Amino acid sequence: MLGDRTGGTVRLERDGGVAVIVIDNPPVNAGSTAVRRGLLDAVATVAADPGIEAAVLIGAGRTFIAGSDLREFGQPLEEPQLPAVIAAIEAYAKPVVAALHGAALGGGFELALGCDARVAAPGTRVGLPEVTLGMIPGAGGTQRLPRLVGVSTAIGLICEGRRVAAADALALGLVDAVVEGAVAERDGAQSLRASAVAHARGLAGAKNRVADRAVPAEPAERIEAAASAALRAGRGRPPAVEAIRAVRAAAERPLDEALAEERAVFQRLRLETEAFARRHLFFAERDSARLPELEGVAARRLERIGVIGAGTMGTGIVIAALDAGLPVTLLERDAQALESGMARLRDHYARRVDGGKMSAGEAGKRLAALDPTTDMVALATADLVIEAVFEDLAVKQDLFRRLDAVLAPGTVLASNTSYLDLDAIAAATGRPQDVVGLHFFSPANVMRLLEVVRGAKTAPDALATGIALAKRLGKLPVVAGNAFGFIGNRIYAAYRRQCEFLIEDGALPADVDAALERFGFAMGPFAVADLSGLDIAWRMRRQQAATRDPAARYVEIPDRLCEAGRFGRKTGAGYYRYPSGAKRGEPDPEVTALIEAASAAKGIARAAVSDEGIVTRVLLTMVNEAACLLSEGVAARASDIDLVLVNGYGFPAWEGGPLFWAGRQDPAWLGAGLARLGDLSGPGFRLCDPGVLRAA
Ligand code: NAI
Repeated sequence: MLGDRTGGTVRLERDGGVAVIVIDNPPVNAGSTAVRRGLLDAVATVAADPGIEAAVLIGAGRTFIAGSDLREFGQPLEEPQLPAVIAAIEAYAKPVVAALHGAALGGGFELALGCDARVAAPGTRVGLPEVTLGMIPGAGGTQRLPRLVGVSTAIGLICEGRRVAAADALALGLVDAVVEGAVAERDGAQSLRASAVAHARGLAGAKNRVADRAVPAEPAERIEAAASAALRAGRGRPPAVEAIRAVRAAAERPLDEALAEERAVFQRLRLETEAFARRHLFFAERDSARLPELEGVAARRLERIGVIGAGTMGTGIVIAALDAGLPVTLLERDAQALESGMARLRDHYARRVDGGKMSAGEAGKRLAALDPTTDMVALATADLVIEAVFEDLAVKQDLFRRLDAVLAPGTVLASNTSYLDLDAIAAATGRPQDVVGLHFFSPANVMRLLEVVRGAKTAPDALATGIALAKRLGKLPVVAGNAFGFIGNRIYAAYRRQCEFLIEDGALPADVDAALERFGFAMGPFAVADLSGLDIAWRMRRQQAATRDPAARYVEIPDRLCEAGRFGRKTGAGYYRYPSGAKRGEPDPEVTALIEAASAAKGIARAAVSDEGIVTRVLLTMVNEAACLLSEGVAARASDIDLVLVNGYGFPAWEGGPLFWAGRQDPAWLGAGLARLGDLSGPGFRLCDPGVLRAA
């Protein structure tokens, strides 16, 4: 589904007795009002011509209807609406064949489901992603899809919003044929268009409506299992709940009733906050890598990468690259460390083979594209080298200095550092213009977010190459300036600090975690801290102790926990206790006592904080830190910050990110809330002007 404002046209052509209806609304043939009107007119013209024996629907250019115009969904819909177009196709007495190439998603695929047959070019993707956009399919998708694939499969496809590749679509019965041939509408005899016309003739005038088919019978347990899995994956949110209900109705209720109900739910959901939030994130993703200053800047060559360090992050990056078909040279400091990294990589692929996710041959092929080495000279053939060695400035500087001597000119040098100063790393080389930060998130082969960090001297084409790598790996790049913690860790640090203030002021860790989890965070901050371990941050705090502003509010509770040997889940105790390896911690009276003593020592009169109070303080903290980042130029756009929080830190996508949340609040309330936040947070807390949010 893509947002496109142009009107578009529909042309009617002839191929003998077959009418060819060509949808032409560049760039992606989005289903605009003009397209729907054109389709309706075309079907009426075709129906009125007795000389026409069948029709083909095809998209001009590089795709079928890739999706509806998303922006329309936030406003009153203009006539004719999509269900009327589909009804006209179904009411037409002769067969209509959808010829699919590129993408046929959302309304585009619903239109195809309204046809009597679907033929697809290789490389086509079909699917109904509405649930991932906070809605449900609204033009019969929840009714026609189960008639083709059964209720349980339809629940999975719709709730996941899966984009199904042509071969899988054929196997599932979503399309009737995959034709080898060109994707363009105008090509010769072997083209998709010619195949679709032949297919239409082959139907010999017979209608074959999906709507007329019975939903295939299947065991109730299979449907229950699919529904509960989809509900869990959809976090019990309304789009998943409603989609499951609608698909089940296909097997239980008359079609016209179920269609009317589907439409009503679609009309309601598309105007709810979740749908606006998800549309916001959709456009934020589309724009994240589009920087005005990079317009026309070509990325450098990217045919082989080097990864340095085969630890947690290095091996994750290697997997991401191998899975994207990018050959990798992996450098470690000695044979033993290299072998333990290689063992981890072999295990990873073996697990995928054992789990039936990949053939042994494919796993072997991926690993064969990996060149493990302890000799730095082997990196000379890489176009981009990423280091993921210890988080220590001296180690990284020494490495970059030595790399300078072996890498080919123009090689992009990237660092996966989380907190170190990229410019200080770049200064160790004679080519700081080639240095860029690539801050992957753990596990690097799973997490989509990738902060691409621009140093003071980073050349535009080096930055463009970092972005190109992110895309090649299927990641979501967000560009950040070089500042402590970049975008994500900087906001997360402020958030964590505020949560510490909260427990010093009167809440308990379990209160804070529960309130934030109810708001929608995947996990509360104290549960996260216990999971990742308290000792690393403790070490960092001790290193920074000398440079800390002595006047600023400093919560000693985490230090007290570490002094007591409570490093989190791995030691059986942290903010919570974990009796005999329990996964979920339980509140510990010892911690409560420790926290109460810490408050008392500072003369703080503890007072309970409501769930709402906790959530508001946390969100305002994020908003304030975001305002600081924007005013410092570390983040270029408010929407980039939302992407980082949603994709890297478990912020609920249905809330659209902290700045989307802020944009929905009354500005006067927000301003007053931020001022009060400053008071509650005590000395040393820096408030930034929220005015910058409106401009961003
Ligand atoms: P790790 O300790 O698991 O792995 C580091 C690896 O680098 C080790 O295998 C070590 O043998 C190797 N190494 C050290 N010096 C080397 C050298 N001179 N040449 C070649 N190899 C060398 O560390 P981890 O967690 O993978 O972190 C690596 C980097 O990624 C750090 O800068 C860290 O801040 C960053 N990072 C870590 C994240 C995490 O969640 N662990 C998240 C994002 C970034």
